[in-house]
Amino acid sequence: APAGAAVPAASVPDAIAPAAAREATVLFGSQTGNGQKLAKKLAGRLTDQGVQVTLSSMIDFKPNTLKKVQNLLILVSTHGEGDPPDNAISFYEFLYSKRAPQLEGMPFSVLALGDTSYEFFCKTGKDFDERLAELGGKRLAPRVDCDVDYEEAAESWMASVLASLGQASAAALAPVAVTAAAPAGPSSDYSRSRPFQAAVLENLNLNGRGSDRETRHLELSLEDSGLRYEPGDSLGVYPQNHPRLVDELIEAMGWQADELVALPKSAEQCPLREALTSHYEITVLTKPLIEQLAALVPGNGLGELLAAGREQELRAYVKDRDLLDLARDYEWQGVSANAFVALLRKIPARLYSIASSPSAYPDEVHLTIRKVDYEALGRVRYGVCSTYVAERLEPGQTLPVFVQENPNFKLPSDPGTPIIMIGPGTGVAPFRAFLGEREELGAEGKSWLFYGDQHFSTDFLYQVEWQRWLKDGVLTQMDVAFSRDTAEKVYVQHRMLEKSKELYQWLEQGAAVYVCGDEKKMAHDVQAALLTILQREGGLSEADATAYLAKMQQEKRYQRDVY
Ligand code: 2AM
Repeated sequence: APAGAAVPAASVPDAIAPAAAREATVLFGSQTGNGQKLAKKLAGRLTDQGVQVTLSSMIDFKPNTLKKVQNLLILVSTHGEGDPPDNAISFYEFLYSKRAPQLEGMPFSVLALGDTSYEFFCKTGKDFDERLAELGGKRLAPRVDCDVDYEEAAESWMASVLASLGQASAAALAPVAVTAAAPAGPSSDYSRSRPFQAAVLENLNLNGRGSDRETRHLELSLEDSGLRYEPGDSLGVYPQNHPRLVDELIEAMGWQADELVALPKSAEQCPLREALTSHYEITVLTKPLIEQLAALVPGNGLGELLAAGREQELRAYVKDRDLLDLARDYEWQGVSANAFVALLRKIPARLYSIASSPSAYPDEVHLTIRKVDYEALGRVRYGVCSTYVAERLEPGQTLPVFVQENPNFKLPSDPGTPIIMIGPGTGVAPFRAFLGEREELGAEGKSWLFYGDQHFSTDFLYQVEWQRWLKDGVLTQMDVAFSRDTAEKVYVQHRMLEKSKELYQWLEQGAAVYVCGDEKKMAHDVQAALLTILQREGGLSEADATAYLAKMQQEKRYQRDVY
């Protein structure tokens, strides 16, 4: 199958008796919002078919009602190193616990969202699928695993779910009308598959001279797009690959820059250089890609990398390497550009947490993007999007964008609720949106920002704005940790622990806690600090502190936007 196509899971569904499919429960576990959006879509279509639908986030679903579910439809993404999204954890753990009931033939199906460039591709969805079958559930449609470009695969899964449930609910077959009466759609014609060309208004480096960092503050115009967003949402951005990488790849492969090749999943053609610059991913190697390329050119040695027992080597090879390495390390003579690019993934959009309040900046959207570059294997490697923005995107040019709603990172509905925001580095972006919004709305709730980066003098992103908000009372207090100004490193979690008592008081007053930024290190350590504070100040056991945090999560008072 070409990259990004629907991948039906190995196991074929057992034929299930067409029981009355009048009810279905659609559960989603979603970090960035895709799973939730698709779940809503499925629920809408099932409703149109006359099915009674219960739609819920996994975290809101009462597990003791599982036995009563008639048809269970799961949409779940995989995060980080094969982890479930935050709002799927409790249900995931429940299914693997002793409390999980026998499902006695309950029909179910799983849509797994993921990214083939990760080793544990779609692991959470695969786990749900396997576990539900183990508990006695019966697949009503095979699991489908989606890559980042998920739309087609998700559609095909929905179609098979709907067909399967449709057969069962005979009554629904009459008014088939192809979802003409769709629920109120998005207010804009622009989406992931049809991005808006946003004009660049400003592109500034926020770091001072001498900093190790280069962080861009990018202002884009959304005028006439109809695109709307809320604080906490993200913007999807389609970048361009580095022209030097594109040219070197073309040369190494012995192709011509102006020969025509097909665009991803399309009959349309364009010149090779343009296709490799704007349409195909050329910086990420994955096992599925290596497999397909090895099949394309048998005998150039690439296939040997896939031999049993060489998994470690393969993993090491793809890490930090790109298509140019592959072009130089193996023999590709005679391979046509067209056959080659047909195996590549469409260049995936990058998601950035929006840094502006739409009330403060109508018709604009601001992003905070840190340039990524590092040396590996004798060559400088560039983060595709961040380097594009830092080096080659100027005011007047346009950038293809779409709004990615993030229902899991939202200000409290009550403007009086206190908020605690933890966002070192570019993790501070959504908090500029939060405070801008609270200022515009005249919200009364108090707020507390924890910020950190390497150096006070060069890396204090948006310093002037925080200070103005402190003065105006929009921001109640701020604690900063500059990790490389002192002999000993200080991080945001150290500042939190120093303010342990006060922070606990805020939590007891009902404050909502937001964490944005690096997942593996920062967000993990921040969570540990929160647990310590609960134990220290609340006199809770470790288990009770964990339960306290889980309850906060359930009440949407602990939300994370981590990557
Ligand atoms: P460092 O690079 O000096 O170690 C934003 O990137 C800031 O996050 C930097 O000051 C960085 O510090 C810091 N940081 C790195 N690891 C961290 C961790 N585990 N917890 C919190 N902050 C961390």
